[in-house]
Amino acid sequence: MLPPTINIFEKAAKKAGKILIRDFGELENLQIESKSLGDFVTNADLKVEKSILDTLNYYYPDFTYITEESGIIKGNENTIIIDPIDGTSNFIHGIPHVSIVIAKMVDREITDGIIYNPILNEFFWSSKGRGAWCNNRRLRVSNRNKLSDCLIGTGLPFGESVYNNYQIEIDNVLRNTAGIRRIGSAALDLAYVASGKLDGYWEKDINLWDICSGILIVKEAGGVITKINGEKWDVDCREVLSSNNHIHKELRKKLSLH
Ligand code: IPD
Repeated sequence: MLPPTINIFEKAAKKAGKILIRDFGELENLQIESKSLGDFVTNADLKVEKSILDTLNYYYPDFTYITEESGIIKGNENTIIIDPIDGTSNFIHGIPHVSIVIAKMVDREITDGIIYNPILNEFFWSSKGRGAWCNNRRLRVSNRNKLSDCLIGTGLPFGESVYNNYQIEIDNVLRNTAGIRRIGSAALDLAYVASGKLDGYWEKDINLWDICSGILIVKEAGGVITKINGEKWDVDCREVLSSNNHIHKELRKKLSLH
């Protein structure tokens, strides 16, 4: 049986997911606005977020909401974080790697989180202490311990956010692993680390709504989450390094060779 919070998040995500599916593939009807170079919002992002907020407000009218599109809606100390479509560029281009993200945070700790890809019908979830799951399947990070066998996810910086040293990091990781994947949804990158599909993932200049649920899901699947330099991650971090634990130290070193 799902924990009560996850049950409500599932209700909100699956209802909103129907809106997402309806608009997916309707490329010529999408209204797209650019927030900044390479950063887009579509009418679907706004409709999906409104639907999630409508459902959650019914159950949690007093909570604080941090959302990608509507900003902060101030309430009590219980906080819900929402990304209506993580992978908006994929969505715009008809690539099915998109997800709805909803997480609960109490005292700056993520306690519950879901990542839902309605196109592939994959519902990832975790509540603290309850393990990590995709639909009815328990998730476990991979067992690979040789970095050279490992597949690593990342997010390529775009537009204004291009940062120094990125090419050096990419080069170091490419030379020492089985390859890099840029999936285009940070939430799914983390869900795939938790599922043992990716062995690690790093990204800089990332927002909490992209990674909040994934942070908990990876930890509950036996993985590790830190800052890129290996220090403790917290909810103010704008970066993340995650892995199956076995390769964490070595991967961190490859990202620090500059
Ligand atoms: C983006 C995706 C992408 C990551 C970007 C995010 P959005 O989120 O998660 O994988 O590389 O940094 O902004 O804009 O599609 O919600």
